[in-house]
Amino acid sequence: MSAEPLRERTRTAATAVAHANIALIKYWGKADEGLIIPHTSSLSLTLDDLHTTTSVVFDEALDTDEAALDGRRLAGRALARVRVMLDLVRARAGLDGVSARVRSRNTVPTAAGLASSASGLAALAGAAAAAAGLDLDDRDLSRLARRGSGSAARSVFGGLALWHAGHDDASSYAEPVSSPLRLAIVVIVIDAGPKPVSSREAMRRTVATSPDYPAWVRRSAGDLAEALDAVRTGDLPRLGDVAEANAFGMHGTMLSATPPVRYLTPASLAALRTVWRARRDGLPVWATMDAGPNVKAITSAADAEAVARRLRADLAGVVPETNVIVAHAGPGIQVRRHPAEAR
Ligand code: ADP
Ligand code: DP6
Ligand code: CO
Repeated sequence: MSAEPLRERTRTAATAVAHANIALIKYWGKADEGLIIPHTSSLSLTLDDLHTTTSVVFDEALDTDEAALDGRRLAGRALARVRVMLDLVRARAGLDGVSARVRSRNTVPTAAGLASSASGLAALAGAAAAAAGLDLDDRDLSRLARRGSGSAARSVFGGLALWHAGHDDASSYAEPVSSPLRLAIVVIVIDAGPKPVSSREAMRRTVATSPDYPAWVRRSAGDLAEALDAVRTGDLPRLGDVAEANAFGMHGTMLSATPPVRYLTPASLAALRTVWRARRDGLPVWATMDAGPNVKAITSAADAEAVARRLRADLAGVVPETNVIVAHAGPGIQVRRHPAEAR
């Protein structure tokens, strides 16, 4: 908790920039819904291209929390999600009863399965904590971001990040992983619109109803060990194989939920085929998918442009309206404090 007097702290604003991350070994399912403790540990790559910028100020003159995303006022569930984070920060900083103004911009499409909740809730955690005068180290910030969205725990860090599932609030956090690999993700944007079922709801339904979910959890530990070994030894084919298998195992658990959660569309399947054909023709490229129709091609930084050219050419005749984005490893969260803007 900060020693600064309340008035000083409620005049300070902070802005954070956090980048989206794509999991190579997935987080899918919570053991504790309140604390967001996952059933499995996960491994991700933070991206340089897709990010969120969020500013927060705690202001005693406000009657209630206000939040806007891309110029539109948040309400309902989206505002409630922001307030969960603000409440955690207020409780920790002794700012109970002081409302906040939140302004956010996403370059990542919101709720499209491109990890906006990861960059969005990490940026919110970083900006809110700094505005409230808290000085958190990276691990504590990762734990705080986790409470907003599980995947946000990993967006605190640049490059590869490992989120230890842990068993309670203190033991569930992400940390960076070093590797000789220079990875890239070629994102095939099939639909940038919001998905019909949120990740939160989809994973809740999977855990509650899929008979295949326990088997996916059991297998995930082995997948992660294999992926970490491949990351440490710089073995891209081994990493690609296990990442691809882990992702489709996850989608299997969604499809066997009641009612099924189906994010894959005919265009997703066509995009997957172009990835697999490129691999068959010798390019080092593997597919992963999250809670949305978009396909992400895992490759090396050196091959990323060649992979993107090949995918664009092949997709042109099949799913012409796709946008193919090359993303390299991106930075960890950046936070700065600054004077509050005049309203
Ligand atoms: P995604 O695949 O984009 O991560 P999710 O279903 O996990 O989709 O989460 C999307 C939700 O995350 C949005 O509906 C919104 O509530 C929240 N969100 C995304 N970006 C932001 C942001 N910049 N600020 C606050 N909340 C955000
Ligand atoms: C498929 O982190 O969006 O992208 O914790 O409920 O906010 P909440 O879910 P979220 O789930 C991400 C699921 C995933 C896989 C992953 O990123 O590991
Ligand atoms: Co999400």
